[in-house]
Amino acid sequence: MAGTGALAGRTAIVTGGASGIGLATVRRLHDLGASVVVADLDEARCRAAIEGLDADRVEAVAADVTAPDAAAVLVARAVDRFGGLDIAVNNAGTPGTYAALPDQTLADWQATLAVNLTSVFTGMQAQVPAMLAGGGVPGGAIVNVASDAGLMGFARLPAYVASKHGVIGLTKAVALEYARKGIRVNAVCPGSVRTPMLAGFTGGDEAALEAMGAGTPIGRLASPDEIAAAIVWLCTDDAVFVTGTAMPVDGGVMAT
Ligand SMILES: NC(=O)c1ccc[n+]([C@@H]2O[C@H](COP(=O)([O-])OP(=O)(O)OC[C@H]3O[C@@H](n4cnc5c(N)ncnc54)[C@H](O)[C@@H]3O)[C@@H](O)[C@H]2O)c1
Repeated sequence: MAGTGALAGRTAIVTGGASGIGLATVRRLHDLGASVVVADLDEARCRAAIEGLDADRVEAVAADVTAPDAAAVLVARAVDRFGGLDIAVNNAGTPGTYAALPDQTLADWQATLAVNLTSVFTGMQAQVPAMLAGGGVPGGAIVNVASDAGLMGFARLPAYVASKHGVIGLTKAVALEYARKGIRVNAVCPGSVRTPMLAGFTGGDEAALEAMGAGTPIGRLASPDEIAAAIVWLCTDDAVFVTGTAMPVDGGVMAT
C-alpha cells in the first residue's frame, strides 16, 4: 500500500536498522509513508525489524557496511525495488574497545573506524549519485549518526571518539559539496541512549545505566525514538534549510 505521510513516495536506506536508534528510525520513516531498505548484519534480525510494517514498503537486507560492495548493493536494492533513493541514514556503529591507550590494538582501531567512519564515506559515495539521478525536488537528505563523542572527548574510547569526530568532519565536507545540488547532509549527535550498545558498556547493570542518565542535565537516558525523531525531522522538508550541521540530541550535555 502506498504511504500517505510527509515522506510518502520517498525511499530511504537505514544501516544498523535492526536495533536501537536505527530500528526506531526505520519505524518513524515507515510511519511517515517512506519505503525503507533496512540493512544490518544478520538476516533474521533484519526480518524481525520489519515485522508488522507494510510489506510493500520495506526491504530487509543482510549487509556488513564494511564490505567494499555493501553500499552499492543497498543503493541498488532501493533503486530496483522502490525506484530511487531520497534518504539515507548512516547509523551502523560499534563502540570499539573500552581500554587505556596502551591496551588498544591497531586491529581494534581499524575495525572501529571501518564501521563508524569508512562505511559513512563509502555509503555516501554510493548514495549521492543515486540521489542526484532523481534530479530535483525534493532532493536528497543524508543523516549520519555521530555522537556527543564527535564533539568532545571520552577517556579510554580513542577509536570511537576519533571515528565520531571524523563523521562530523566528513558530514560538513560533503554538505558543502552538495549544498547547491539539492542534497542536504547532516549529523545527529546522540547523548546516552537506552540501546543494546549502551547496555554493553555497563554489562547490563541497570543501576549503572540509571546513574549515567541521572548525570545528564535532563536527568535521564534518551529513548531510541527520541533520537529517531530528530533524525527523521532532518529528512523531512521541514528541515529544507538545514545542512552541514552536527545536532546534539543529548539532554543538554553539550551545554555543560
Ligand atoms: N546508544 C547510545 O548511547 C549512543 C550514543 C551516541 C551515538 N550512538 C550511535 O548511534 C548509532 C546506533 O547505535 P545504537 O545505540 O542504536 O546501537 P545498537 O547496538 O542498538 O545498534 C547498532 C546496530 O548496528 C549494527 N551494526 C554494527 N556493525 C555493523 C556493520 N558492520 N554492518 C551493518 N550493521 C552493523 C548492529 O548489528 C546493530 O543492530 C551508532 O552509530 C552509535 O555509535 C549511540
